[in-house]
Amino acid sequence: MSNRLTLTLDPQALATELSGHHLINGALVPAKSGKTFDVINPATGDVVAQAAEGDAADVEAAVAAAKAAQVEWAKMTGRQRGKLIGECGALLTAHSEEIGRLIALETGKALRTESRVEAGVLADAFHFHAGLGSELKGETIPFSPDMLTLTVREPIGVVGAIIPWNVPLMLMALKIAPALVAGNAVVVKSAEEAPLAVLRVCQIMNQVLPAGLFNMLSGFGPECGAPLVAHKDVGKVTFTGSVETGKIVYKTAAEKLIPVTLELGGKSPMIVMADADMDKAIAGAVSGMRFTRQGQSCTACSRIFVHEDIHDAFVAKLKAKVDAMVMGDPLDEKTDIGTIISCEQFDKVNGYIKLGKETAGSVAHECSAMPTDEKLQKGLFVRPVIFTGIGNDARIAREEIFGPVTCVIKFSDYEEMLEQANDSDFGLAATVWTTNLKTALDATKRLEAGFVQVNQNLVVQPGLSYGGVKQSGIGKEATLEAMLEHFTHKKTIILNMT
Ligand code: NAI
Ligand code: MG
Repeated sequence: MSNRLTLTLDPQALATELSGHHLINGALVPAKSGKTFDVINPATGDVVAQAAEGDAADVEAAVAAAKAAQVEWAKMTGRQRGKLIGECGALLTAHSEEIGRLIALETGKALRTESRVEAGVLADAFHFHAGLGSELKGETIPFSPDMLTLTVREPIGVVGAIIPWNVPLMLMALKIAPALVAGNAVVVKSAEEAPLAVLRVCQIMNQVLPAGLFNMLSGFGPECGAPLVAHKDVGKVTFTGSVETGKIVYKTAAEKLIPVTLELGGKSPMIVMADADMDKAIAGAVSGMRFTRQGQSCTACSRIFVHEDIHDAFVAKLKAKVDAMVMGDPLDEKTDIGTIISCEQFDKVNGYIKLGKETAGSVAHECSAMPTDEKLQKGLFVRPVIFTGIGNDARIAREEIFGPVTCVIKFSDYEEMLEQANDSDFGLAATVWTTNLKTALDATKRLEAGFVQVNQNLVVQPGLSYGGVKQSGIGKEATLEAMLEHFTHKKTIILNMT
């Protein structure tokens, strides 16, 4: 393992170094058109770098490089490939502080509570998948005594991955690590709001992997993402983002008849029964709502159903807890909550807060203080809001806001509440808070979601299947089965010995 890259803990210096590039065939290169766009620090409004503005010509170059590199890669054993992915994980661990600082700079996510944590999760996902290399097994089938019948797992070829900006490192890792271990080459299209840290990761991985195997393009969705999905040599697309874009990706993939994985939105219910451990539930609501990520999470518990007996106490305690969180400079160690990613999302979130305030019966509990630091005055800070007094039919309880906004919905009847919890277009995650085992088991069985937890609220964990039902998506991630199902195809072989 060679590490020719120096650690650069000053995120601005690193942003400048990476500015204006894709990474294709092992080299940092500008867009073929020469075009770039601004990368902005959402905490200050400053332009920190340029990103290469990719289009179909760059997609062509990246896919060609990937296709060529995949041939030799597929000839290696899964174990050998896994070993190299493990080496990537080790290098990413060594670089994790610089990656964390860079993602904080470009996304406005607080370093201590979010960005540094995400850089660690990234490396961990590589270590998990590294160990799966020797598990690419097939089956033997007792089809006939004179025939040896078996299945083998083969790579698909070139995988196109399109990622969002909210947790780009983690979400990318869950796609590229299994895709590579399974013997595929990958082209990633980063989100236009957060192209730098993922480019750095690609550069680090290219210290270990053969040139062309893993390529990174930056650019806008229709101009760069769409031609990647449509490219004739891309045999699989894995996407995380909005429902709207997910459907566009799915339609294009359908034209080519290639498989897709879609991780889309959520409006996840959290159910707090009257017998719940209140302090545990409050801590669960704070972490589950991802207030430290400004609520920019597809699993955010943005509908909290609380039993009427404890409703007022729950709201008061939750507000007090969120009030104590510090909003400020994402790179400051004291900061709990950073900024919203972009002006577009800032306007969207504020639009929903306005809508919530206009909803009949609603009460908006605004939490935390705005930062006063002069250099943050243009920062995209939004005070977290807890809405009460509304029902599950309100628009703010139905649509994904992707901001620090949650609805606490009072309930008295368990059956009615469960019906409402399931009355959503989405089905990604759910949590139940109760000390009654019978209620816990009943709710876990009946909730329509891909991931249901009782009395805890863990985020994505390698080894636990992750993915939703209904409009939350198609396919699962983060397990051995997901790797086999989504990044290989099964070939049946029969040897007739008669
Ligand atoms: P988006 O779905 O438009 O963007 C996600 C990725 O898809 C980006 O890399 C983007 O460039 C790419 N993309 C956009 N149009 C494309 C196209 N036609 N073909 C191929 N790729 C394309 O999401 P956006 O605009 O960033 O956020 C909008 C909303 O989506 C958010 O407010 C949130 O509700 C939801 N969202 C959900 C995420 C999740 O984790 N499930 C992540 C990000 C956003
Ligand atoms: Mg979009």
